[in-house]
Amino acid sequence: MEKGNIYITRDPDQALVYFLPFSVVMMVQYLYVPGALEYHAIIRTIADYIDIIATKHPFWNLSLGSDHFMLSCHDWGPYTTSYVPHLFNNSIRVLCNANTSEGFNPSKDVTLPEINLKTGEITGLLGGLSPLQRSVLAFFAGRLHGDIRRSLLEQWKGKDHDVLVYDSLPAGVSYETMLKQSKFCLCPSGYEVASPRVVEAIYAECIPVLISDGYVPPLSDVLNWKAFSVIVPVKDIPDIKNILVGISQSEYLRMHRRVKQVQRHFVLNWFGIPFFLDRAQWTRRIVDKHGWTTTSTNKMVAR
Ligand SMILES: *[C@@H]1O[C@H](CO)[C@@H](O)[C@H](O)[C@H]1NC(C)=O
Ligand SMILES: *[C@@H]1O[C@H](CO)[C@@H](O)[C@H](O)[C@H]1NC(C)=O
Ligand SMILES: *[C@@H]1O[C@H](CO)[C@@H](O)[C@H](O)[C@H]1NC(C)=O
Repeated sequence: MEKGNIYITRDPDQALVYFLPFSVVMMVQYLYVPGALEYHAIIRTIADYIDIIATKHPFWNLSLGSDHFMLSCHDWGPYTTSYVPHLFNNSIRVLCNANTSEGFNPSKDVTLPEINLKTGEITGLLGGLSPLQRSVLAFFAGRLHGDIRRSLLEQWKGKDHDVLVYDSLPAGVSYETMLKQSKFCLCPSGYEVASPRVVEAIYAECIPVLISDGYVPPLSDVLNWKAFSVIVPVKDIPDIKNILVGISQSEYLRMHRRVKQVQRHFVLNWFGIPFFLDRAQWTRRIVDKHGWTTTSTNKMVAR
């Protein structure tokens, strides 16, 4: 937002929404004793913060928070906002952990895609085998985090040649390579509803299979997830293979094409890229404009 310049204003009368820049991650780091399961300090800090905003500025009271937004990708984002009723019920909460059972309200809240770039770079993650070359029907690798994973591992780990489910990958097998040669990538919820696997699958052009209850996927106000993902309720985990085998080749090819179409909406860029421009072209332009060089890993550095 700051780089774009067209989105932010310091003139409150120009503003459509007001950002509440508090960080749940920082609060967990400074105000939480690991293992204590005692969130009081965090909750009090957020409540104090909103009190100060409401006392110092007229804007909070004018809308009771409904034109204010906060953002958190932490698992506790939703919970820690729940002690300030107007923040919870009125404000726009931009959350990774978008669990409707924990009060996520798609008519005012926003799902932030959970993105985990292990190297900090996106290079090498985009793309994969062409759809007809993909030899694995379905793939998952991940630890036993929570009940949904338990159910998936119990039903499918080591049980099938088409649905490959691992808690840890065999030596020498690369996670990214598996994503790139699978047709469908299983994205079960872990301890919380969101999973970085959804974006990993889209990057690798593998159809995401969302296995969750109560998860509102990102951008679902504008993207029709049914067109490019398979949505499997937790109770249907035993049926996963039947569900996937039941998708015809032509439907699979259509979904694959659509995954490639929506991919750009999940790609992180150093700069916003105009919709009509190609990523590489635009990067070139920005690099030239600022007199930067690109290293071999495509990371931009000042000359
Ligand atoms: C907003 O409302 C609260 C609670 O009613 C009050 O304490 C506070 O002073 C008000 N803020 C302003 C700027 O008037
Ligand atoms: C917020 O919503 C909850 C649940 O819908 C409700 O119980 C509570 O009274 C609401 N609080 C306010 C201040 O509107
Ligand atoms: C969603 O929230 C409900 C209510 O807190 C909880 O029982 C459930 O486990 C959550 N889902 C996940 C995947 O964590």
